Amino acid sequence: MSTPTVGSPAELAQALEATGYLADDGVATAAFLALRMGRPLFCEGEPGTGKTSLAAALAEAFGLPLIRLQCHEGIDAAQALYDWDFPRQLLHLRTLEAASDGHLEPDAAERSLYTRRFLLERPLLRALTEAPCVLLVDEIDRADDEFEAFLLQVLDENAVTIPELGEVRATTPPLVVVTSNRTRDVHDALKRRCLYHWLEHPDLAREVAILRRRIPGIGVTLANQVAHAVRALREMELLKPPGVAESLDWARALAELDRDVLDAQTAAATLGAVLKYREDLDRVTRSGLDRLLAG
Ligand SMILES: Nc1ncnc2c1ncn2[C@@H]1O[C@H](COP(=O)(O)OP(=O)(O)OP(=O)(O)O)[C@@H](O)[C@H]1O
Ligand SMILES: [Mg+2]
Repeated sequence: MSTPTVGSPAELAQALEATGYLADDGVATAAFLALRMGRPLFCEGEPGTGKTSLAAALAEAFGLPLIRLQCHEGIDAAQALYDWDFPRQLLHLRTLEAASDGHLEPDAAERSLYTRRFLLERPLLRALTEAPCVLLVDEIDRADDEFEAFLLQVLDENAVTIPELGEVRATTPPLVVVTSNRTRDVHDALKRRCLYHWLEHPDLAREVAILRRRIPGIGVTLANQVAHAVRALREMELLKPPGVAESLDWARALAELDRDVLDAQTAAATLGAVLKYREDLDRVTRSGLDRLLAG
């Protein structure tokens, strides 16, 4: 099996839409080029703009496994690439000892410990062995510089060497999506390797379409009202402007309450689905929910 092919950004957008992901031209073109040029796609953008779910949608669209490497502070090669299953190695050694009645051949015993059986494959190694697949390196900005350099090397070579086992090389390079929330700037060396795309919040029509697509049965009026209100909230310079995840949550909350229109009273009661800071709630309430909904 080789890397999936699509003929055009529009064709890719259609394949993504079939999974429920509505890509605009910018996203569809960037992902199309990443596929065609065999380069990782580096997605940056505000929270909830669809960075992580793009990788999931690409995997689903092409029927490929999605392998996710969630980055965090202090992540290292043992967590990202592979580790040895120490407890199992120890048990194995004990068993060998018992079975050999004290006549254990040390070199052979040691060799038997460093075999695939005792290898814990972490996401990067799995991406090389399971390719073709989609490898999502999520929130790279949370990892440190050293990890970034290590990742770059793996992506460049599409192979790693495990001293005890030898080289593991991907038969087909994985389709790589790297995301960042830009809590720090990622190094140029990594960016140079990738195609870059900045994801914006969807425009009004697309957000309405996403709501209607993701929440079966939601009325057009309610979807429109939620999308309008969320857009107005994004313009208010809040501590945490709502992303698509929040507009979906808000609409779901309203659906749970059997509302088919959004009035000021309902908005006040459900604002916690969309705003997650007390300061933001105060600010929006003070400026008037009637105004927000009218806008
Ligand atoms: N274009 C889109 N089409 C359909 N659903 C979308 C789209 N963009 C975002 N969503 C939905 O919005 C939610 C949030 O998206 P996602 O988690 O991918 O955002 P993110 O950019 O990774 O956010 P964060 O930076 O917080 O990790 C998900 O439920 C996702 O399915
Ligand atoms: Mg994400």
